[in-house]
Amino acid sequence: MRGNGSSDLARLVEPDRVHRTVYSDAEIFDREIAEIFHKQWIYCGHESQVKQPGDYATVLVGTQPMIMVRGDDGEVHVLHNRCPHRGAMLCGNRKGNVGKAFTCSYHSWRFQLDGTLDRYPLPHGYDGTRMSPDNPDVNVKPAARVASYRGFVFCSLAAEGPSLEEFLGGAKVAFDDMCDRAPEGEVEVVPICFRVVQHSNWKIFLENQLDALHPSIVHESSGRAAVEVEKEIEKHDGKAPLDYHYISAFVTVPLDKWDMVQTVNFANGHSLLQGYMGLRPQDPDTLEYEAVMRQHYGAERTEEILSVNIHHVLLYPGLSVQSPLQQLRAVRPLGVDKTLTEIWHFRLKGAPEAIYRRALGYYNLVNSPSTMINADDLENFWRCHQGLASDGGDWVSFHRNAGQDDEVGGVVTSRQGTSEAPMRNQFRAWAEWMGGGR
Ligand code: FES
Ligand SMILES: [Fe+2]
Repeated sequence: MRGNGSSDLARLVEPDRVHRTVYSDAEIFDREIAEIFHKQWIYCGHESQVKQPGDYATVLVGTQPMIMVRGDDGEVHVLHNRCPHRGAMLCGNRKGNVGKAFTCSYHSWRFQLDGTLDRYPLPHGYDGTRMSPDNPDVNVKPAARVASYRGFVFCSLAAEGPSLEEFLGGAKVAFDDMCDRAPEGEVEVVPICFRVVQHSNWKIFLENQLDALHPSIVHESSGRAAVEVEKEIEKHDGKAPLDYHYISAFVTVPLDKWDMVQTVNFANGHSLLQGYMGLRPQDPDTLEYEAVMRQHYGAERTEEILSVNIHHVLLYPGLSVQSPLQQLRAVRPLGVDKTLTEIWHFRLKGAPEAIYRRALGYYNLVNSPSTMINADDLENFWRCHQGLASDGGDWVSFHRNAGQDDEVGGVVTSRQGTSEAPMRNQFRAWAEWMGGGR
């Protein structure tokens, strides 16, 4: 990209199409890191990853290695993973417990859990220098802002901007829906995540999340295989477990029905796709779970919670949440053509074990790197990224149902489920944040 100015960006992103360089230009990528990933609210992790004082988890925010740590005061802090002395990373592992303080492995500067310098060796060596203990530069630098919503921790590297709740807006239903489904109103992370590096631009993954046109096409072979197995089981043992339904639904839901699943598109690029699978079979496990829910919430509230009809919520620019199945994927751009996804899942606190097994089933069968579903998608992401190099065309099309969406108070509802409204919505936020507003 030449110039890299706002007017150039405005030319590259139109309401119904975007120029291919938006996905392939290294300068644009650097600007995305600066304007989006280093300014907006980015997901760090779940509070249950750091239960005890000194527990930490490392995370990448934009290009910045960060540490999420539980302080002595019970607060979750997010700090730059960098020693203020000569810059060594303080935590080299993904997670652990640092005890009462961080001690740098190089010259043993020691920091409290909120990053404040505790002590350094032979302190008189700093007498009369600019690095005396009253200089704030001796402390580990914290993220400019940290906030959590129902246990999900975000940070922003910019001091100014909307609060986390303002930023999430209507999309915070992702966390409400997930937590409300727990009899105790909270979820707990399963402290293992799959990590997948995709050889494609980060936006390609996000554009796929609410793309209701693709499942019955891309996942057709996987879906058909599941249908066959379901039939076989039903011949011998009655109803097949719900796990098979996760995959067979990709093909048993016909394309015209996908088109009836609405999307709701909020400010800041967030979107929601309504549910399309029945997740309340009347089997003994579900009935037991619903009885536990009624004990905690009463019949009316339980019905309200279990009737929330969501399949998927995308929280731009880096989170994909499937709340009724307790799944969360975080997107970490590594380069213009390289993207890390972290794939997490959660337990509903107070729910019977069988209900957790459903989340685990979906995690393993749909979202894990070893499932064909994930492989089906990755192949297409890679092809899309490769296609950017082709001179066969300069524009990526988001024309589907353009101009046919309903907008009320900044919230866009698509009349058709396969509308490319979510992608248009993502680029509306993108253009605004990148300064190329349209
Ligand atoms: S680099 Fe950390 S104490 Fe020297
Ligand atoms: Fe897919």
